[in-house]
Amino acid sequence: MAVSPLRQGDSFEKYIGEIRAVWGDGKDPNLPFKVKALMEKMLASTGPDEPWMARLLSEGKPSKELYRDPEFGFIQMGHVHKQGHANLPHDHGPCWVVYGAYSGVTEITLYRRTDDGKEPGRATLEKADLHRLSAGVVYPYLPGQIHSTHAAEGPAVVFRFLSYDLEKIERYRYNPEKGTVGPA
Ligand SMILES: [Fe+2]
Repeated sequence: MAVSPLRQGDSFEKYIGEIRAVWGDGKDPNLPFKVKALMEKMLASTGPDEPWMARLLSEGKPSKELYRDPEFGFIQMGHVHKQGHANLPHDHGPCWVVYGAYSGVTEITLYRRTDDGKEPGRATLEKADLHRLSAGVVYPYLPGQIHSTHAAEGPAVVFRFLSYDLEKIERYRYNPEKGTVGPA
């Protein structure tokens, strides 16, 4: 990875370097938890005036790709969500993700399916858990885990680490009111 002299020592470069150092073949079942710990460290050690973070905050984009690893394929996204921003329950197929809050509060609801999955296009869900991500709180979400996000206190600045490009895999989005499921 090319590191420009300007960015040397910046907490984001350091964080990415640490992930690359533990990545191995990418199949270690503990990897989501290792990335969680590294993200916690990055969030705690980055002040709002650090240039890369200041830029993310001032741009205020709902979604921004901060880094894509050319060798391992993982991606780090940054999101600035207005209060009330929400999405429908979805999964990330075979990928795992790590969500961490820098500021604001993001609620992540976890669901379990209550149907047998045998009827195509149909799915019923019940709420299984609620994670409240305030500043510095990070949770990994494992392959297939159904979840939705809601910016309960905004602006909610959220870091989302993707083990692989979600655009390249099959995953599903659920509509609990209609009891339906379809490709995301
Ligand atoms: Fe998600």
